[in-house]
Amino acid sequence: MFDKSIDRLEPGDVLARTVFDATGRPLLKAGTALTASYIERLRRRGYAAVTVEDGLADDVVPETLISEQLRHTVAGHVGIIFGQVGEVARQRGRGQGGVDAAVQDLGEQPLPLVDGGRSALERLYADVQALINEIVESDTVAGLESLKSHNEYTFQHSVDVAVIGTLLGSRMGLSGGRLRELALGCLLHDIGKLYIEEAILDKPGKLTAEEYEAVKAHPRMGFELIRRMPVVSLLPAHVAYQHHEHQRGSGYPQGLVGDNRIGPRLHEERIGAGKLLLIAEIGAVSDVHSAITSDRPYRPAMAPDVAVDVVEGMAGKHLNREVVELFSRIVPRYPIGRWVELAGGEFDGARGVVTELHVLRMDRPTVRVLLDAAGQRLASPAELDLRDAEQVTLRSLAMDEQPTR
Ligand SMILES: [Fe+2]
Ligand SMILES: [Fe+2]
Repeated sequence: MFDKSIDRLEPGDVLARTVFDATGRPLLKAGTALTASYIERLRRRGYAAVTVEDGLADDVVPETLISEQLRHTVAGHVGIIFGQVGEVARQRGRGQGGVDAAVQDLGEQPLPLVDGGRSALERLYADVQALINEIVESDTVAGLESLKSHNEYTFQHSVDVAVIGTLLGSRMGLSGGRLRELALGCLLHDIGKLYIEEAILDKPGKLTAEEYEAVKAHPRMGFELIRRMPVVSLLPAHVAYQHHEHQRGSGYPQGLVGDNRIGPRLHEERIGAGKLLLIAEIGAVSDVHSAITSDRPYRPAMAPDVAVDVVEGMAGKHLNREVVELFSRIVPRYPIGRWVELAGGEFDGARGVVTELHVLRMDRPTVRVLLDAAGQRLASPAELDLRDAEQVTLRSLAMDEQPTR
């Protein structure tokens, strides 16, 4: 299977993965042969790409960190909260007088949400627990291989950030309570964007200074909104507040600093002391990763190996170095099912599919080599364990790069 952008789909292409609609219902099932009208439907619904069969290695099934069902349920519930808060933002003129005025306008009352926002949040608490259960209990190493439509970008992004955030938090041994605060904070981290005009959020070109100032208001706005919701602690609000801060103090809005370590620390001592909270630093890493692995109107998604490189390159100055080191050990550069091209060794220039990951060497998966350097099908595919072939390097095929030439 491989990802093909909507503009390149042709009638007859067969879906390798089920496409779900915004409410989590299957829209088109895996195995469906696409017709011109199906392709048009996908386009109208905002899908940038789908996964299609390649006719070579369709038996290799990618693993995902959470079930497709849970992903869509949670995204739907995040959407409900965003809808309720968006209504408040709309009534208040979306903070056009600036962030201070918008905060003042909110007053110190709880947010005027439908039933106080309680039932929507209760659903989200249940989701958070389900997410944690699926992630903590799974022993799979997997990435975020899921199809996302532009229309639901914000909600899918929120789920991605919570999934990778929870994975990182659980592997570093955070307590159940802390994991729940982290996951909820991740799900709501961008809620302050409801106060930014959509035209600015989706703008393809460079933002003007004024527009950038408007974007920079969303962490503070998110903090102010979440702390006025019936949440059990302030920490989820701080995840929203701090997710664009940098280790060296060069982020926004508070210019907080980090010490590039995971080490033990008390959250309570850090609030107000100019220091980043660990759960916010975790959120920052997963936020960057989710953003660069998603298709946006202004640029396509990065391949998973490129994305891990980019996150690693941000360690130290921007992202917490120890959190990134853990991230590199648990998020695969070459997820199962991904087409890769080999360089060096016996199979120089050949292409194949990742079939197995090795927990202690995530950068050296096992690859089923299917095509030679000329793109011809090998008479009998070879299974190559990259741990035994250190001279071989891999490159993950980009979107639309068809495995056969
Ligand atoms: Fe953000
Ligand atoms: Fe974000």
